[in-house]
Amino acid sequence: MCKNCNDPSAKHKGKVKVRFVRRGQGFTAGEGDIFRAQAGSTVLAKNGSTGVFLNGSTGTAYEGSTFTAEAGSVVHAKYGSIGRARKGSTIIANYGSHIEDEAGAKIIRRADEEEHAVAGSLVSSYAELSAMERSLVDHAWAISKTAYCRYSNFPVGAAILAENEAGEKRIFDGHNIENASYGGTVCAERVAAFDAVKNGFRKFLIVAVVCAKCPGGSPCGFCRQVLREFGLNATVLNIFNTESTVVRWTVDQLLPDSFGPDSL
Ligand code: THU
Repeated sequence: MCKNCNDPSAKHKGKVKVRFVRRGQGFTAGEGDIFRAQAGSTVLAKNGSTGVFLNGSTGTAYEGSTFTAEAGSVVHAKYGSIGRARKGSTIIANYGSHIEDEAGAKIIRRADEEEHAVAGSLVSSYAELSAMERSLVDHAWAISKTAYCRYSNFPVGAAILAENEAGEKRIFDGHNIENASYGGTVCAERVAAFDAVKNGFRKFLIVAVVCAKCPGGSPCGFCRQVLREFGLNATVLNIFNTESTVVRWTVDQLLPDSFGPDSL
């Protein structure tokens, strides 16, 4: 345990330079900084920093920071921060923050919806999806494993539930296919979309998109326009993290006031 940063696993041997942040002061802690935020101070703890928020201090802990919040401190823990909340502390814990809390600590969990307060998006867990939606997500993950992405090394997978004129429904999947010219690259969504259309399934109902390297990312502009052509009201599911939290949109929300078949 390091007495200064309160990290039980830290071995800050020898002289550790600790930044004491006093009443009325603000401090932005960066890589390698160890801070002690005293009463009346505010600390923004950025990536690579670690420290303690003491009674009467406030702060924000960002991704890559670790902190201990002592009784009487108030800390806003952002995505990717790691914190220990002592009895009597208050933590506003955003989605993706990792808080170990003692009994008596007040943890205000920020719902995912608040994190993604964009009109119409809705976050749910994989388990809350319908069986069909889960199947689409599984297809998208599976196909992403064989993406041809030798230039970006950024595999993306997409799966689309589409309907043909006879009312039959089928799943089409695709991964990104890159090209040495770069510009010839086609995204996963469009590979899946064109396969569906080529097979006569021109009404898109649900689209799942996954990318382990950019969880929460959503279809690029070109893909939105293509999805819009075949499914303005289709649902788009984006996997927000690798533990499968899902953000739900409609194509219309992703491409508002769009230009489409009826515009001509
Ligand atoms: N990519 C997709 O497949 N879908 C998207 O929505 C965004 C980007 C691909 C294209 C390229 O192969 C790689 O990701 C990096 O942009």
